[in-house]
Parts: sequence; structure tokens; C-alpha cells
Amino acid sequence: MAEKVWPDWLPVRDDLRGESPYGAPQLDVTVRLNTNENPYPLPDVVVAEVEREISKVAIGLNRYPDRDAIELRGALATYLASQGAPALSVGQVWAANGSNEIIQQIFMAFGGNDRRAIGFVPSYSMHSNIARSTQTAWIDGARGPGFSLTAASIVTQATDASAHMVFLTSPNNPTGTSLDLKIISDVAAALPNTLIVIDEAYGEFLRDKSQSALALLSRAKNVVVSRTMSKAFGLAGARVGYLVGDESVVDAIQLVRLPYHLGAHTQSIALVALRHASLLLENVERIKEQRNRLVSELTVMGLFPESSDANFVLFGGLQDAGKVWKDLVARGVLIRDMGLAGMLRVTAGTAEETTIFLDSLRAILKANTANTNSESKG
Ligand SMILES: Cc1ncc(COP(=O)(O)O)c(C=O)c1O
Repeated sequence: MAEKVWPDWLPVRDDLRGESPYGAPQLDVTVRLNTNENPYPLPDVVVAEVEREISKVAIGLNRYPDRDAIELRGALATYLASQGAPALSVGQVWAANGSNEIIQQIFMAFGGNDRRAIGFVPSYSMHSNIARSTQTAWIDGARGPGFSLTAASIVTQATDASAHMVFLTSPNNPTGTSLDLKIISDVAAALPNTLIVIDEAYGEFLRDKSQSALALLSRAKNVVVSRTMSKAFGLAGARVGYLVGDESVVDAIQLVRLPYHLGAHTQSIALVALRHASLLLENVERIKEQRNRLVSELTVMGLFPESSDANFVLFGGLQDAGKVWKDLVARGVLIRDMGLAGMLRVTAGTAEETTIFLDSLRAILKANTANTNSESKG
């Protein structure tokens, strides 16, 4: 992409010149498996309740929403108890417009001037992107073979970087791999004056939910868990994310949050979804089945899928990942090229979407092998 030329009169920050906006390429195709969305629309009963609640909200739209989103934070605390969190006070929970805004608020409160944060690549690139926009020094930490991380390696790299914040994404995007709870608890204990931010956007898709960092909340004050309703609840369009941690973390966020940041309609939609949590989370089980199917069928194709605890699978073993990505688009299937050599990432869709992806990929690999064979003969 050609570098944007800014008008001379426009005082764009020097460190933003030459940067591009973050965002997956969007194309108008039939099967969209590129942004780790939940493929299931909200069930009718939930849609009907959202409509009723939004009508009620509409009458009061002349007033600002509940600035502190107290009812929503209480409902999130109740939901989190069902996910392995200890009993949480409303003061330990905070909600915002997607977990991206949560992460931004974390950086605004704890980053900035002379502050340093580390994450371990490859991982969710919005962490470093928000570090940049909040002028926080960001360090790309390294992983071991197979994208692995140990507590010792995290602690050493964070200490060497003099990091004020350590970002651990588990399950990690784009690898799908997750960290054992023991690793997270060892890191938190070894770095008691560092904020350990666990991005659990995909937490509900863990094969073993007891590995969620939610379990550490009563023990480790420096652990903050960031989660979202975009993925498991299928509510990406509503923009609801939240964090849980020590009350002092939530208090600090109050210093940087905008007043009335979370619209009345957003709070209301999130409350309806939480009332129907068990119905909505039935889709998580369906998605996990497709995720596991992707791993096994990609393996049968001779490819190398990473073990996944998320709603997507990163797989390697492709000779020319860029070409395979384009060939899939030509067949109406959009997945994600993360720029990792020989690898692509695919989101688990409905059974039908997953079948279309797998059949398309099989056909493409077969055609590529036939071409290679005829080239080597010719
Ligand atoms: C690891 C991770 N964290 C956070 C997010 C942000 O999600 P949202 O802002 O929709 O809550 C994503 C989105 O894909 C993600 O992959």
C-alpha cells in the first residue's frame, strides 16, 4: 500500500506518519472466516427481547446513560462466577465498547510517558498498536519453538525490558494456543509490581476452562483479565468488552475513561445477552466441534495445524500461503494471511461453512500438486 501523504498544514503526530490503520482486509465473499467472528446470528427469542428493551431505552435517550454501568457490571460479575471466577464485587468489573476499548483504557491509565509494555509475538497486534497511540514503549518479546512460552522466559524478558505491563493473550491470536494457569500464576508472583494483563477474548473456547486466569483473581492483585462479548456471545456488532481485576485497577481506569462512554442501547443489549447466556453459549460448543474438526481434517491433508483453544486454527505446511489465500478468495472463501511463512489462519464457521473451506482447500492443494508434478516432468 502506498504511504499516505498528509497535507502540510495538518499537524499529524510525527510518530503516526507512515503508519496504516489496523484492520483485516474485507472482501464481499460468501464464506467469511477471517475475523474470528461467531457465525451464528442471535436466536429469535434474544432478538425479540433486544427489540423490546431497545424500545424502552429509546424513550429515555434524551438522558445520558448510567455512567458507571452498574447493572451491567453486576450481571457480568454473576456471569463470570459461572466461568470460574471467585465472587466479584461490582468494583472489580469494568465494561467498555469492546475489549479493544478496555485495552486502550488500560494503556491510558498505566502506559504513556516513560512506561514500557511487553507482549510475545506473534500475538494480537492491537496491543502494540494501542501502545503506539498512547505513546507507551512496546517490546516484542520472543516465543520458543511451536510458539511456546515458559514462566521463566516471560519473567526474564519482562525484567530485561523493565516492563510496567506484561500482555499475555490466552488463548492467543493468531496461534490459538493457550497458557497453563501455572505459567500465569508464576509470572504474577515473580513480578508483583508489574500489571499482568491477560487478554482472554477467546476464554470461553478453552478446552479446559479451569486454565482461565479468572481463577487467579482472588489471589493475584496484579492480574487483570480482559474479555469480550464479541466472540462467544456472538455480539461483535454491539461492542461490549470488560475487564476484571483488583478494585484499584478499576479505580485507576475511572481517571481516563470518557464520561458516558457506554451507550444506553449497548448496556441494554449486553444485559439481554447475559440473561440468555446459557442459550447463547450453546453455540460455543458447536463452534468448538468445528474447530476440532478443522484441526483433524487439516492434519489428514498433511498440513500442520496448531493445537487450538480458540474459535480459529492457525495451520502451516503451505508452500505458498499467499497463493493459497488468493485461490480460496477466488472460490468465495476469505480466511486470514497473518504474514507468517507458510501459514494461514481460519475461523471455525458453521458446519456448512467449514465444509466449504475444507473442500476448497483440498481442491486447491490437489491442483497445486498436479501443477508441480507436471512442471517437474516438463
Ligand atoms: C485477542 C483479541 N483481543 C481482543 C480483541 C478485540 O475484540 P473486541 O474489541 O471485539 O472485544 C480481539 C478481536 O479479534 C482479539 O483477537
